[in-house]
Amino acid sequence: MANNKRTIVITGAGAGIGAAVAKHFVALGDNVILLDINAQSLADTAQTLGSDKVTTHVLDVADKSSVLKVFASIEKIDVLVNNAGVEHIPTPMHLVSDEMLDKNLNINVKGLWWCMQQALHKMLAQGQGNIINIASVAGLRSAPMIAAYSATKHAVIGITKSAAVEYARKNIRINAVCPSFIDTDMVRRTLSLMDETGQRAIVGANPMKRLGEVDEIANAIVWLASNESSFMTGHTMTLDGGMTA
Ligand SMILES: NC(=O)c1ccc[n+]([C@@H]2O[C@H](COP(=O)([O-])OP(=O)(O)OC[C@H]3O[C@@H](n4cnc5c(N)ncnc54)[C@H](O)[C@@H]3O)[C@@H](O)[C@H]2O)c1
Repeated sequence: MANNKRTIVITGAGAGIGAAVAKHFVALGDNVILLDINAQSLADTAQTLGSDKVTTHVLDVADKSSVLKVFASIEKIDVLVNNAGVEHIPTPMHLVSDEMLDKNLNINVKGLWWCMQQALHKMLAQGQGNIINIASVAGLRSAPMIAAYSATKHAVIGITKSAAVEYARKNIRINAVCPSFIDTDMVRRTLSLMDETGQRAIVGANPMKRLGEVDEIANAIVWLASNESSFMTGHTMTLDGGMTA
């Protein structure tokens, strides 16, 4: 009865939060489709999860024609977890290069936008769907030294809210999650550029004085994807150890 299973599409699923989200949906018995620009980490994650339990496509979400091609090959999408994203090296805003800005906008905003558009076409035809966009606390408040990243995450929240209202009557729910610093390669890359004081400031940036775990984000995403959250749309769920409290 494979067709009765939910199909979950996750972008940036080769590592970090995306791979953890994939693990949780595989455990629930869903059809899980992993998309990532990095063929090796995609293959490694698929092997860890069980290659017979997942489908993989190498995809750069910032390449629109590839997004159209990959999404056209997917029969149905019950849940899209729009997770692929990149950071940039901490840099004062006046020194952020156009390349850094473009890379962040192209992946974090345009890539997310194109994946959403393709998913929405299918969800409208299906008569139901659920989209979860990964924003950040950097989309809710100031994020000094990562202004370009912060701009993209504010955009993700704007897209989430507007689209949630547009499609609320179409049985499509759209929410965002806003993590603070989570223990992934992304944060490890940033920490590796800092001295001990800077590292302590990042790890201790919330009242819990620790980094978040990928499973703590994945659990919230699984709940948002379930009927348990059926009256929630256009919401930005903050998962930050109390950082923004
Ligand atoms: N880690 C954190 O502290 C944190 C906090 C807030 C929000 N986020 C957001 O969560 C999401 C996942 O972050 P993470 O920490 O797991 O990052 P990560 O760097 O550990 O993993 C990101 C994954 O996305 C893939 N990816 C990168 N560019 C891509 C592209 N163009 N197309 C397809 N795949 C691509 C990478 O290959 C990688 O597998 C991102 O959107 C990030 O902005 C992370």
